[in-house]
Amino acid sequence: MSNLIVLGAQWGDEGKGKIVDLFSEKFHAVARYQGGHNAGHTVYIGERKFVLKLIPSGVLRPGVQAVIGNGVVIDPKALLEEIHGLEEMGVDVKAQLKISNRAHIIFPFHRTLEKISEGREGHVAIGTTSRGIGPCYEDKVARRGIRVADFVDSDFAQLYRALAEDKQLIATAFKLTDRVDFKEILEQYKQFAIEIRPLVCDTQHLLNGLIREGKSVLFEGAQGTMLDIDFGTYPFVTSSSAAAGGACTGTGVAPNKIDGIVGVSKAYITRVGAGPFPSEDLTELGEEIRRRGNEFGSVTGRPRRCGWFDVPLLRYTAEVNGFDSLIITKLDVLDELKEIPVCVAYEVDGKVVHEMPASTRRMEAIKPVFERLPGWQTKTQGVAQMDKLPKAAQNYLKFLAERTGVEIGSVSNGPERNETMIIPGSKLEKLLQ
Ligand code: GDP
Ligand code: IMO
Ligand code: MG
Repeated sequence: MSNLIVLGAQWGDEGKGKIVDLFSEKFHAVARYQGGHNAGHTVYIGERKFVLKLIPSGVLRPGVQAVIGNGVVIDPKALLEEIHGLEEMGVDVKAQLKISNRAHIIFPFHRTLEKISEGREGHVAIGTTSRGIGPCYEDKVARRGIRVADFVDSDFAQLYRALAEDKQLIATAFKLTDRVDFKEILEQYKQFAIEIRPLVCDTQHLLNGLIREGKSVLFEGAQGTMLDIDFGTYPFVTSSSAAAGGACTGTGVAPNKIDGIVGVSKAYITRVGAGPFPSEDLTELGEEIRRRGNEFGSVTGRPRRCGWFDVPLLRYTAEVNGFDSLIITKLDVLDELKEIPVCVAYEVDGKVVHEMPASTRRMEAIKPVFERLPGWQTKTQGVAQMDKLPKAAQNYLKFLAERTGVEIGSVSNGPERNETMIIPGSKLEKLLQ
């Protein structure tokens, strides 16, 4: 059995949660490696709907070891709320979950700082999820953050005071009206630490131990490659390494232990928040996709911007991540379209290009070059075999595989676990054996 990374090939919300939940049946452990409760991974099991934010989707399978890796940033209040919510739905989270002692802690003042930064006059807002994710990673990189190991240790108060003094200076400089009560936060966090302490361990040791015993680990990406701090549409990105490399730095499992890397992509594309979006459809058709795909953020409820499958973008994320296989989700959302546009190239400054520009100006200047493929106008939800899909849908998928240069190993055509086909003979099928 393989160790597999499953991650977003676009701007997030590709359906990673559904796929990880489905695959986790075959794995011993599922580990999150970056991000925080900015993620929202929706899983439907029969009538029940789960939205996982910090906790890996694998937790919904009894017996699967769920791990929050060192690359994740944790808001203890949000974590405990999520744990309690899942417990109420009958999931024995505390029996399954371990949290890295090297992950970083989010404090309420991280959210306050984010509000200042996003609301600053003359500053183009990123449209973040307002969860304090960016400022927490800033403290991590500036070497003044507080890690889980210290949060649950006896000298937490001392470390906290140093960080709080630093933030107090900023609060004073910005003449903050909604002042942060640092003492109250300390008392609250001491209480959170009591409940979280038993879940904390050296998760890199835990995961490597499982791998040494021949057990398999599934690495669950949050966000998507185009939101990665290095490879995304900077600065309109999140603050962590969402791409495949992040799975190693974010868990302490070495690259030579990874057997496969799988990208999840919608049959079209969406984005939440600001930033360039070459294949965005601002017409009534884009709205129809939003309606049919129920494209509203699972964390913030914001309407997602909708557009068409973007070949240069996918080729770029395939290269950055080394995808062995692609999973195409939400094929059913396109069922009623007569014609489906696919962005096959970019026109930038009057030239046709196939690569992803790095500069923000060039990114924003992209004019998409579209090819239009015939739609199938037949219901595909739940169709379980490739050859049972309408011919036009098969051709559409074939086109995506040929143009991106990556095999399509699986197609999802509905939110339920069983509305997913694994293509026989695919690399993905072998990786899951
Ligand atoms: P994630 O962040 O990548 O896990 O994705 P989200 O959960 O934020 O958004 C994906 C949404 O699409 C969820 O509401 C899923 O239940 C839903 N979904 C996933 N796959 C399919 C599919 O194949 N068809 C349809 N109609 N919905 C899907
Ligand atoms: P999942 O895991 C879609 C976006 C935000 C914003 C940018 C930065 O569900 O796919 P942040 O709060 O992270 O500093 O915001 O990133 N963003 C997401 N978009 N899906 C997500 O997660 C996202 N997490 C962050 O909308 O544009
Ligand atoms: Mg999501």
